[in-house]
Amino acid sequence: MAEESKPSNRKGKDKEKAAKKLHRAIDGLSNEQVTQLLDLNPALATELANGSDDTPDSAAEALRRLNLQDIMTGLASSGKNVKDMGAYRFWATQPVPKFGEEQISNEPFEEGPIKIQTIDEISKEPSPLIDGFEWATLDLLDTTQLKEVWELLNGHYVEDDEAMFRFNYSANILKWAMMPPGWKKEWHRGVRASQSKKLVAFIAAIPVELRIRDKVLHASEVNFLCIHKKLRSKRLAPVLIREITRLCNLEGVFQAIYTGGIVLPKPVSTCRYYHRAINWQKLYDVGFSPLPANSKPQFQIRKYAVSERTSTRGLREMQKKDIAAVQDLLTRYLAKYDMAATFDKHEVEHWLLHNKKDAPEEQVVWTYVVEDDHKKITDFISFYCLESSVINHPKHTNIRAAYLFYYATEVGLTGPVDKAALKIRLNALVSDSLVYCKQYKFDVYNALSLMDNGLFLEDQKFGPGDGQLHYYLFNYRANPIAGGVDKRNRLDLENLSGIGKTQI
Ligand SMILES: CC(C)(COP(=O)(O)OP(=O)(O)OC[C@H]1O[C@@H](n2cnc3c(N)ncnc32)[C@H](O)[C@@H]1OP(=O)(O)O)[C@@H](O)C(=O)NCCC(=O)NCCS
Repeated sequence: MAEESKPSNRKGKDKEKAAKKLHRAIDGLSNEQVTQLLDLNPALATELANGSDDTPDSAAEALRRLNLQDIMTGLASSGKNVKDMGAYRFWATQPVPKFGEEQISNEPFEEGPIKIQTIDEISKEPSPLIDGFEWATLDLLDTTQLKEVWELLNGHYVEDDEAMFRFNYSANILKWAMMPPGWKKEWHRGVRASQSKKLVAFIAAIPVELRIRDKVLHASEVNFLCIHKKLRSKRLAPVLIREITRLCNLEGVFQAIYTGGIVLPKPVSTCRYYHRAINWQKLYDVGFSPLPANSKPQFQIRKYAVSERTSTRGLREMQKKDIAAVQDLLTRYLAKYDMAATFDKHEVEHWLLHNKKDAPEEQVVWTYVVEDDHKKITDFISFYCLESSVINHPKHTNIRAAYLFYYATEVGLTGPVDKAALKIRLNALVSDSLVYCKQYKFDVYNALSLMDNGLFLEDQKFGPGDGQLHYYLFNYRANPIAGGVDKRNRLDLENLSGIGKTQI
């Protein structure tokens, strides 16, 4: 799943305050080290700045709870983790790698499952729920049940650390994300209050053929874990996670991939969010984008102006006839990454081709291909729409965000990789996709530091966000995969990401 992220360094004053506390808490830290610590841990900065307890001891205590190594690699970037780091009562019982389970040598280890099981060993029945609640399978083909899931997520799903924005997945995007080819109704699992039948918790999985380096796993992708706010902190999340594991296991699926903004044992990769303002004024009004010191609104508006027209010759909307060519190009392009899904033609159609039967306002995904003079598809680029609700704002109710999705180009696919040529081509494609984002009235364009994004994010004026996305594998031990950022959480242009997998 995605993580609500905002441009980082939004509050210069907060950071100054946090820096002072850090200085007082840990003698001997240089200014540069303090800045580095806070850059890597935006939520820690917020926590320190906003904490009512102003003593150096409380800041030092917050830090002591973190493992220094994890701080320095930016793992401990969420405020929640500052408090929770190290406990993991539930996750310690699960087949996932543990923190501290460091490699003895720097040599890569053999990758593979952690626990081997057969379907016969798997319980046919769910674990009982506490009194007053019951399990339910949600039929998303039924509009009433789809609406129930939408309502739960709309009111209770992921928010940013300051509770200013909350993801607002449309009913259409939920269908798109949860019903790709091969989807299973049983993997849309909820909990209802027995009396009122109100849906109070949900978790979903979809099938995915996931390649990790040279092995392809018949896995599932778990997403949309959500518990009603009134039922939080009651250890219901582990029950839902165990239940979706059981349901996947019953289908012979023993590995899973999932992503999240919080730190759990143990990320296989960590990417950072980047944001490119389109409607800067609105983003500023709702508190998403800051006004940098020494700047003025009109400078910011000018800085983020987007051209009216695209510039790549042969660029056009993807059509049904392009499916085979796009699938072939995407498959060859994704081969360069350590981790990527494999897509057949049906999956390419589902994930990339806009369904013309949808009303324009229901469009979820936009894909543009480049067709050369010989009618060959040489490139494509796509993005999807995910709105966020603006919580308690007098004027604006939502932010319309485009998320960069998959792309591929022939540049650099044959022969030695020409990074300079690839950089030029990707910049052209992303710049053109920005033109479409503007046309379709998006307020912001979001992207992660994955794939080859490091080659264009800065040039296209994407700024670093305060959110990170951690990638996790369930029941599979894999060597770390580069997330596209360095130890200081800055774009790593030398070592691009090995992640070729996005999650909605
Ligand atoms: C995420 C959410 C379901 C957790 O529920 P909760 O009531 O806070 O937590 P519970 O008391 O039920 O369970 C806590 C356990 O779940 C784990 N957990 C919490 N969030 C998790 C997540 N996103 N993925 C996996 N495990 C998670 C915790 O680490 C803890 O286990 P531990 O003791 O091993 O550390 C709930 O906060 C929520 O609905 N949040 C909004 C939506 C959201 O963030 N979804 C997750 C998207 S990645």
